[in-house]
Amino acid sequence: LLDRFSGSRKSVGMNIDTFFLTNEFTGYARSFYTEDPFVHENIVLKEDHTHRVCSFARCIASSIGLCRHDIDCAYLSALFHDIGRFKQFAKYQTFRDNLSENHASLGIRVIEKKSFLKSLSPEDRILVVEAVRNHNRISVDENLDERIKLHARILRDSDKLDIIALHLDYFERRKLIKNAALEAFFPDEPGYTSEIIDLIMQSAQIPHTLRKNYNDFILTQLSWLLDLNFPFSLSYVLEHNYARKILIHLPEDDTIVKAVDHVLSEIIRRQKNPFRASRE
Ligand SMILES: [Fe+2]
Repeated sequence: LLDRFSGSRKSVGMNIDTFFLTNEFTGYARSFYTEDPFVHENIVLKEDHTHRVCSFARCIASSIGLCRHDIDCAYLSALFHDIGRFKQFAKYQTFRDNLSENHASLGIRVIEKKSFLKSLSPEDRILVVEAVRNHNRISVDENLDERIKLHARILRDSDKLDIIALHLDYFERRKLIKNAALEAFFPDEPGYTSEIIDLIMQSAQIPHTLRKNYNDFILTQLSWLLDLNFPFSLSYVLEHNYARKILIHLPEDDTIVKAVDHVLSEIIRRQKNPFRASRE
């Protein structure tokens, strides 16, 4: 599969001015800076998150041998993937799509209105828009063409690698300073939804509607470790001990320990057999 994308597309599209587009992104994001400390903190949080997702996207794209042009496309998909978050937070003060609106669709409207991608070839423009559209779906639309699906998966992995790290960091400091937006306004109460564990044991993803409290929200992050596509991502989460670090913040419970063990053994199995095992 990868042979079709590596090194063979140097001639596709024009050179991409990632420096200029990064400045465009920054100008837009910073237009939402405000005196309101709660809104400001969360706007900056998404701006910083975006840059880290961009780095992960470049790492993953390079790790699978994509050409320079496609590494730039991976970078741009990451740069614009959460562009809808700024308007979403300014308007609704939440990142929960089901309490506001789908931030990917909102982002695509922003991309179009601001003509952020006007310097790209039509093919690359479609690629970025479709990667953005697919980044927060429960799975990638299988009907897309292979190049777009590959980029959507690079973006989904990159986003998860950072968002889980961001939450792990937050779990440590939430006892001191809470950010209701990062708690996604879920009640912090004992217990968890057992159907979520059942789905994790089946290596399935969790529908948003199942999540009832903050423990369910943390379990969802655990489930994301089962939705990684690339050896880079699998190695990264193992090296940085994501699964065990998530476990520390969940209730002490044998069923949860078993779910974490399942996730870890799945990651190791997929690492040995990438590109096929992850979507079996
Ligand atoms: Fe994101």
